[in-house]
Amino acid sequence: MSEQNLYHSVQIGPVTVPGNVFLAPLAGYTDIPFRTLCIENGADFSYTEMVSAEGLAREGEKTLCLMDRAPNEKQYAIQLFMGSTDSLKEALEQLQPYHCDVIDINCGCPVPKVTKTGAGSAMMKNPALITEVVRIITDSTDIPVSVKFRTGWDESSENSLEFAQAALDGGASMLTLHARTRSKGYAPFADWSKLTTLKQYCTDHHYQVPVFGSGDLFKAEDAKRMLEQTGIDGVMFARGAIGNPFVFSQAKAILSGEVMPQVTVAMRHKAILRHLDLMIETFGEKTACTLMRKHTCSYLKGVPNTSSIKQAVVQATKAEHYHVALRGLVDL
Ligand SMILES: Cc1cc2nc3c(=O)[nH]c(=O)nc-3n(C[C@H](O)[C@H](O)[C@H](O)COP(=O)(O)O)c2cc1C
Repeated sequence: MSEQNLYHSVQIGPVTVPGNVFLAPLAGYTDIPFRTLCIENGADFSYTEMVSAEGLAREGEKTLCLMDRAPNEKQYAIQLFMGSTDSLKEALEQLQPYHCDVIDINCGCPVPKVTKTGAGSAMMKNPALITEVVRIITDSTDIPVSVKFRTGWDESSENSLEFAQAALDGGASMLTLHARTRSKGYAPFADWSKLTTLKQYCTDHHYQVPVFGSGDLFKAEDAKRMLEQTGIDGVMFARGAIGNPFVFSQAKAILSGEVMPQVTVAMRHKAILRHLDLMIETFGEKTACTLMRKHTCSYLKGVPNTSSIKQAVVQATKAEHYHVALRGLVDL
């Protein structure tokens, strides 16, 4: 594939997304402020944190808030998780007023609290369930469905092609493979060869759904490497976007054959304060200041001589504390 066409639009059922550099769903991170910032920095598409279908059916207020669209989010997906179809129809009724563009199904979460209900990566052990889930959604809504899954439950039961086929049988409009088994968690290294195999499978069987890859995308250059090595249609930045929303515009530049913009300390400083403002708008000052601690440490990762700033922000309880702590940052 030539450099020029590595960056391109993608079609998810009836939805055209202008580019193929997405922000992955990240529980505890991809709230409205973080998604807003990633979109400002070039993310083409974004996902909510995972939302429990059962929680939705119970109309829990906390669960409902997770589905809100960010103000600058022209297109977005709500990600659902479920271990059965019991609450799915009620959940879809709760979801409809949010007018999301895509519904994504989480088949990758390795957390025991989730897998013990048969949800997340435990769905890898039950391909028939993903067929049923996708079919119920496509039969009862006009919203295209994407499925995000792993290469298998563990090394002895890798089944990404069988699982992909099960999702396609239900009518899935997009596949995203996190190229690790559940038992690998998030450990290095993701097995990108599984992405090549999946894309080849879809091509051979004339499925025109976009295939996206996730796993070990930490730098903009990784996106180019993944697309070139595997032939898949797009990438999803996850941990690589935390403290580094600039990775989207960088990746888009590289994929378009343009010069990659460099990230300066001043840009990091500005992004932290913008992120803090967005957090305060959404959660109020107290909660924002707590949530921003982990983000700020991520923004400063690898920036020399910032340990005193990190020490100050992990105790910050007011926006002013951040402003004071960060004052020296541009001059370092
Ligand atoms: C803190 C954290 C939270 C995550 N939450 C979700 C989630 O809610 N839904 C999901 O499908 N994947 C979730 N993931 C998986 C990521 O979307 C991604 O597939 C994974 O991190 C692999 O990409 P990476 O190696 O580039 O980080 C999460 C990962 C992390 C580290």
